[in-house]
Amino acid sequence: MRKVSGQRLVAAAMKARLRAVAPYSRFRVGAALVANSGKVYLGANVESASYGLSCCAERIALFKALTDGERRFGAIAVVAPVAGGPMPCGACRQLLAEYAPEAVFLTADSRKPSVPRKFEIKSLLPEAFTLRPLEVSKLRKQSEY
Ligand code: THU
Repeated sequence: MRKVSGQRLVAAAMKARLRAVAPYSRFRVGAALVANSGKVYLGANVESASYGLSCCAERIALFKALTDGERRFGAIAVVAPVAGGPMPCGACRQLLAEYAPEAVFLTADSRKPSVPRKFEIKSLLPEAFTLRPLEVSKLRKQSEY
């Protein structure tokens, strides 16, 4: 697995943020997710006039990586203009807990991205909901889903 530093991942998230499609909230969020393959997947939020259809930067990056065949992740960096960096919504916490449980979550203020805060994904959603946990974790081990 190629190592990507937290600093480089935050810089990648800053680039991703420029591609946000956020005409309604004007709140741009960027994400960069590094897979264990070493590849970095970028995401940014995309909004709809039907507000509930909007998708967070984190989920876009995760869905891109998953549909590219990635199954293991080291870290995700997220940036937005929030003091201390944005924290992920509940939906993103659920998906990250399911598909990137071993990853770390780095968050930084896009106005001052040099000092990210760091969290374990597992700590962000204690007792996460899973279906048939034993079978799913077996499939994960075999990379068969
Ligand atoms: N948003 C993200 O992309 N990630 C987060 O962690 C929090 C919220 C987006 C969704 C919506 O487009 C905008 O920020 C305002 O909620």
